[in-house]
Amino acid sequence: MKFFVDTAEIGEIEDLAATGLLDGVTTNPSLIHKSGGDFIETITRICEIVAGPVSAEVTATEADSMIEEGKRLAGIAPNIAVKVPLTWDGLKACKALSSAGTMVNVTLCFSAAQALLAAKAGATFISPFVGRLDDIGQDGMVLIEEIVTIYSNYPDTLQTEVLVASIRDPIHLIESAKLGADVATVPPGVLRKLAQHPLTDKGLAAFLADWEKTGQSII
Ligand code: E4P
Repeated sequence: MKFFVDTAEIGEIEDLAATGLLDGVTTNPSLIHKSGGDFIETITRICEIVAGPVSAEVTATEADSMIEEGKRLAGIAPNIAVKVPLTWDGLKACKALSSAGTMVNVTLCFSAAQALLAAKAGATFISPFVGRLDDIGQDGMVLIEEIVTIYSNYPDTLQTEVLVASIRDPIHLIESAKLGADVATVPPGVLRKLAQHPLTDKGLAAFLADWEKTGQSII
């Protein structure tokens, strides 16, 4: 499973990239707003830090304008994945951009039918939002199961990667991995939580206390 980080904070991306665990980055207009940075400058810098796909979202809502914005974004670096919303115009833009060789991430997916259309339109990634479905009382993981099943029924024609988005906790990520999702995009805090376990902390404290009593040093 590939790990993307869902942020536009340059410091966070530099720190996580240094671990070697980061396969890509996703951003959206809200994350750009939160970062306070200039959109094009921020995306350009992220593409310098991370070699894998960096999602940058169009803000036009009409297909021709989305395609123009997508071309502008794709020109920033070869690892840009242009993010388009799952609307009828977004699907048209997806088809045009992916046919021209640009990676496309179709975002704001909330149903299996939408995911099927995105794959038919040549999406590189489909982004189902599990947390936002949970927020309205639906089980986001059921959608992941449906999409993984549908895509795996047609491996020769539906080659879109399932990029689980709107992940709120480590359980979302583990459940996505169990279902065989290709990618999880995770807020930095959730990514760090994956490494944490109270028994690890307790065990390490006990080992170090006993080591101290030996009076030895390794170096
Ligand atoms: C990723 O591409 C999405 O923009 C993101 O995961 C949305 O997460 P949220 O629902 O927590 O805002």
